[in-house]
Amino acid sequence: MIVSRRRVFARLLCATGLVALAAAPALAQSGEVNVYTYRETKLIQPLFDAFTKDTGVKVNVISASSGLEQRIKTEGANSPADVLLTVDIGRLEDAVRADITQPIKSEILDKVVLPQYRDPEGQWYGISMRARVVYASKERVKQDTITYEELADPKWKGKICIRSGQHIYNNALFGAVIAKLGEAKAEEWLRGLKANLAQKPSGGDRETARDIAAGKCDIGIANTYYWALMNDVETDRKPWANATKVLLPTFKDGGTHVNLSGVVLAKHAPNKANGMKLIEWLVSEKAQHMYADINYEYPVRAGIEINKTIAGYGTLKPDPLPLAKIADNKKAAANLVDKVGFDN
Ligand SMILES: [Fe+2]
Repeated sequence: MIVSRRRVFARLLCATGLVALAAAPALAQSGEVNVYTYRETKLIQPLFDAFTKDTGVKVNVISASSGLEQRIKTEGANSPADVLLTVDIGRLEDAVRADITQPIKSEILDKVVLPQYRDPEGQWYGISMRARVVYASKERVKQDTITYEELADPKWKGKICIRSGQHIYNNALFGAVIAKLGEAKAEEWLRGLKANLAQKPSGGDRETARDIAAGKCDIGIANTYYWALMNDVETDRKPWANATKVLLPTFKDGGTHVNLSGVVLAKHAPNKANGMKLIEWLVSEKAQHMYADINYEYPVRAGIEINKTIAGYGTLKPDPLPLAKIADNKKAAANLVDKVGFDN
């Protein structure tokens, strides 16, 4: 079984072009852990390097932009995957539904990660948080506070930009709206939001900032870390950040919609103990600091300093709705997007 796992892993290395890792010593032995991840290698590698330094456990990384759940599923019992690092509650739930996870049992994680940021059965845990917020034109938008409900107010007619309603980030936000307002009111809200769009949903969250900067719309819906990346790191996109400000919207009776980057333990993890070691390390103070500064996300662990740029948005008051509840409404949200022809 070990041999075939190694073969599978070698094939994956070739398929993903990570040839440098093909020389890795034997897998499935103590001292190693195999991580599949959607996160960009350059963003995540410093964390793995620090983990190896702290524990002596080597990390083999498979990085891809899609299809990792399916890949693990296809590999079956021979899968070398120990840990899958992914983003968004939708993808975490996809992993559970694909039956590629096993429950994570850890007192450390239960202590650090609040119940609303983990699966009730322990199939996934949040590691860091991002919020889905409003980017607004500095020039044309005077207000500094806003509610999600207000996005459907006709005062914004022809002024809002957003990416596809079927993107997982919007499915999660709309799922939260359904959980908060109920389906009938959520439909009304989504029709109102659609009526306010300046253009057909398109691009990604960065392009929403771009279009505000270009004057195509006044406000848009996007994730917190993109603005910080454009402002601090991506020099060519700095003008888009300069033209916009970030508002942390809240629900009328609640807080700001947050989503997670999270982790699952693979069902057939050959290095389960090391997988658990890594998962627990990821919520350590050191790792949470790195997450905050490298990935521009909110630490899931309480008491960790938030990155300065992110903190500049104001104090995040996360909505208390459990993420699992949002996941329950993901399908209903996707159906609603189709029903109101949001992307048409
Ligand atoms: Fe993203």
